[in-house]
Amino acid sequence: MNLVLQEILQSGKVRSHSGETFDLGFAHVPRQQGEFLQQLIFETKPKVSLEIGLAFGISALFISEAIRSVQGTRHIVIDPFQSDSFKNIGLNNLYNAGFEDLVEFHELPSCTVLPKLECAGTRIDFAFIDGAHSFEAVFVDMFYTDRILRVGGILAIDDTHFPAVLEALRHFLDSGRYSLVDTLTASSADQGPRWKKAIRVFIRGVCKYCPALKRILRLEFSDCNAQLALAPDVRCVALRKERES
Ligand SMILES: C[S@@+](CC[C@H](N)C(=O)[O-])C[C@H]1O[C@@H](n2cnc3c(N)ncnc32)[C@H](O)[C@@H]1O
Repeated sequence: MNLVLQEILQSGKVRSHSGETFDLGFAHVPRQQGEFLQQLIFETKPKVSLEIGLAFGISALFISEAIRSVQGTRHIVIDPFQSDSFKNIGLNNLYNAGFEDLVEFHELPSCTVLPKLECAGTRIDFAFIDGAHSFEAVFVDMFYTDRILRVGGILAIDDTHFPAVLEALRHFLDSGRYSLVDTLTASSADQGPRWKKAIRVFIRGVCKYCPALKRILRLEFSDCNAQLALAPDVRCVALRKERES
């Protein structure tokens, strides 16, 4: 693992160019998910990759490191809020880790950038979608990513336990043009204590017989994964594009 990423994950802190320090917080992929994305890249050896949602650059650091090691040439990153909300820390991290020549950054909404990439004839082999999480945003991200993703390419989607994300994912699986390659579960991503998982399983079991309790505990999210026949705690899904529409 590169030193910049290692230091951030160990300290839980990020630093701006001017030296201000911020808590990393939780709006980033956990280490296990970063390694899950890297494994997909090691197996499929993409030349060009795309990422929607940079934030402090944690997933981008994992992806860039793997892309470089498989001799990839370009990692396209999109985030409209990098300077305003993240003080360019994600970009700085990527540059400090030595990925300046690999990364092509666009500080605009993905719905603006993706059609431009298509018009420019860009073709990608790997994509990770972790931008805005409303249904329309995720759907548009998937729609345009699909248009530039090569057949055989990998589309990884984060937060599939969100109903809006799951709805968009369902559409892509229903189309028959994508197959499910791999999934990452919350238990493997979070490495939480076993007793917490056991309590969740118990509560979910009780809720089957008591829908009111399910509403009170707001457990609808976990049900969404079940509708797709995924394990209830799946958080990230990798699809392979099998054919064009
Ligand atoms: C959960 S964070 C991404 C975390 C990042 N993948 C990581 O692991 O460090 C979501 C990101 O999506 C970005 N975002 C929000 N709306 C967007 C849009 N329309 N297009 C692209 N990115 C967007 C936010 O600025 C934020 O940085």
